[in-house]
Amino acid sequence: MSDTDKELRVSKIRNGTVIDHVTAGQALNVLAILGIDGSGGESVSIGMNVPSDKLGLKDVVKVEGRELSQSEVDVLSLIAPEATINIIRDFDVIEKNRVERTESVTGILVCPNHNCITNADEPVRTAFEVLDDGVRCSYCGTIIRDDDVAEHIDTRGSG
Ligand code: CTP
Ligand code: ZN
Repeated sequence: MSDTDKELRVSKIRNGTVIDHVTAGQALNVLAILGIDGSGGESVSIGMNVPSDKLGLKDVVKVEGRELSQSEVDVLSLIAPEATINIIRDFDVIEKNRVERTESVTGILVCPNHNCITNADEPVRTAFEVLDDGVRCSYCGTIIRDDDVAEHIDTRGSG
């Protein structure tokens, strides 16, 4: 058996998005950012803590029939700064992009301050200014550190 044969691989997908080189341990948070909890019927494959030449260990998330919004990519960059987004069409990688830390992120994250206008049942979308090691709510100034970002992903499915 060759080394290649021994590798455990997640199947290739036909159409959709492969989020590769995700920081090991972050795959489920990536699914939360995408608002995927299984109820939407998407076909999703996940590799967790798989060996990677570049990262030692990495996670991989493959979603059939779906591309990511800019907001989703922006939040992804906070929890998986090395991630690559591969767009797959008919089994071929037709586009490959590294995520970039942007200046701001909108939606998807929830402000931890209960008194923030974004938590007041008003039609206000969350917005955060991106700092070196966290994000700051544009409405109330509350800071969420990068390490805590995953705990503030909106799981009510708005985004
Ligand atoms: N992939 C997939 N289904 C396809 C094509 C690719 O799931 N039909 C996955 C591959 O398994 C890999 C990622 O998409 O995890 C990127 O594919 P590719 O660019 O072919 O691999 P690498 O050259 O190893 O990518 P990189 O240079 O970004 O590490
Ligand atoms: Zn706020």
